[in-house]
Amino acid sequence: MDDCPAGVTTGDALRWAARNLALADVASPRLDAELLLGHALGASRTDLQLRWTECLTPEAAHALTALIRRRAAREPLAYITGRRPFYDLDLYVAPGVLVPRPETEGLVEEVLAWAQKWRAAGRRPLRIADVGTGSGAIAVTLARHLPEATVAATDLSPAALAVAAENVARHGLGDRMRLVRADLLAGVGGPLDVIAANPPYVPSARLADLQPEIREHEPREALDGGADGLDVIRRLLPQAAERLAAPGLLVVEIDETHGEAVRRLARQAFPHADIAIRQDLAGLDRLLRVSLDNRSESE
Ligand SMILES: C[S@@+](CC[C@H](N)C(=O)[O-])C[C@H]1O[C@@H](n2cnc3c(N)ncnc32)[C@H](O)[C@@H]1O
Repeated sequence: MDDCPAGVTTGDALRWAARNLALADVASPRLDAELLLGHALGASRTDLQLRWTECLTPEAAHALTALIRRRAAREPLAYITGRRPFYDLDLYVAPGVLVPRPETEGLVEEVLAWAQKWRAAGRRPLRIADVGTGSGAIAVTLARHLPEATVAATDLSPAALAVAAENVARHGLGDRMRLVRADLLAGVGGPLDVIAANPPYVPSARLADLQPEIREHEPREALDGGADGLDVIRRLLPQAAERLAAPGLLVVEIDETHGEAVRRLARQAFPHADIAIRQDLAGLDRLLRVSLDNRSESE
């Protein structure tokens, strides 16, 4: 039954929104239209299914038009809705910070698997650092899953640190987390049991080829890794080698073309460590994993 004989229904609005996003070449127009319609109405996607024949109020129509205009200009969905699911958390996200990516969840999994063994061995609470924390995605997720760990998270960007601070507060982690405005690990004492980083690693010349959402909206300092993409990793590895305890774990997200180069750099910084390159779900090189065992300390 049509509850809205003369007006625009939510179903009509969805079709209009999806059409406009498709015309703007948005990758998933129907899904984004649904999420933005839900955002305008304060409704979940499941709720929307029950409301297709409802009349859209003028206020909701106005709000939806503004949201669709932003998305059609290829602003990332997460900046518009202010949220992004990451691992098992709902994170706050805003312009000025990298939108957390699904492939970074693999880095979190790698640390949690290692931490489980640490815990099983009855060791003391972990001391963790997250370098280039952005929204705090890695640091906040680790702190939530490792209830005794202390986590220091650094970034150079005040905008990123403001977003991270909001996520720390929303998840009630202020007593175990410290946000530091710093270059890499400067300002974070050692020793550290775990160092995690998703540094900028896109070679500068490749930035122009990225999709508009990234190229025109996400912060360049979160992406640009210099001429070969390795500038930040090259500086981070020796700093990490100075601070990592034994046993200890370093995990760094990398570009899929950097596996061999990063393995070589890691070997220079950590001559005695166990070094591995791990692949993501697409089978692409995605993580550098360096682990020190007890013996590495004295070697
Ligand atoms: C690829 S983003 C990662 C953000 C977040 N960790 C994530 O995974 O979603 C890289 C972050 O590193 C920060 N950054 C870049 N250079 C840095 C440096 N020298 N020291 C500290 N942070 C840096 C950027 O501001 C940005 O927030």
